[in-house]
Amino acid sequence: MSIGSDREFEKLREVGRIVAQTLRKVAAAVRSGVTTAELDEIGEKEMARHGARSAPRLVYQFPGGLCISVNDEAIHGIPGSRVLQPGDLVKLDATAEKDGFYADAAITVQVEPVSQTGTALARCAERAFHKGLEVAKPGNRAFHIGRAIEREVRREGYGILRELSGHGVGRSIHEDPTIPNYYEPRAKARLTEGLVVTIEPIISAGSGKCFVAKDGWTVKTEDKTLAAHFEHTIVITKGAPILLTAA
Ligand code: CO
Repeated sequence: MSIGSDREFEKLREVGRIVAQTLRKVAAAVRSGVTTAELDEIGEKEMARHGARSAPRLVYQFPGGLCISVNDEAIHGIPGSRVLQPGDLVKLDATAEKDGFYADAAITVQVEPVSQTGTALARCAERAFHKGLEVAKPGNRAFHIGRAIEREVRREGYGILRELSGHGVGRSIHEDPTIPNYYEPRAKARLTEGLVVTIEPIISAGSGKCFVAKDGWTVKTEDKTLAAHFEHTIVITKGAPILLTAA
């Protein structure tokens, strides 16, 4: 969506804060021995406490509140009986809806003791996000963001899960335009003031090739390497973009 009024901005800000708080709360509960279903319950309760709902469940009938993906699972992991183990790399992806407004964010957290590989990969996803953010300004196009992300990820020698991308958001979970995580010259959508999008590098320690698992949801790396994800919902402005899902 493109923000057209102060009311819309305030509504988005509110749901963005709920997403931020949800992720913070769930991240604090990540430890060895906890199940992904237990984490999900914490997250969905936090959303409900603020009058918000899980958008993937609402829009796509996703069988969970948050998407929780572990190690070689990159995104759309279904919360369940999986017990987190020491060193697991956990992607927490929360999209909330409140009063018809949507915000989306994701972080990668690691179960202690952290591995160097996991930490480096998660940091790269976050850094790539910031590189994309730097060029997220009016007049630029979607591909400028993708190009900046790809440069950063390539510099580190990691893979990009090219089938997955950022997207417009605000009045639904997935809107136009698509924001690729690599240089895609056809992604010509112009970034304009007030436009609400996600920037979300999804990367792996291997080739970046991925597939959808038998459960019909979970996207996993083909070569079983670790994956990382970092995402915020942002508003394009003349100055620096506004991060709606930052605390
Ligand atoms: Co997203």
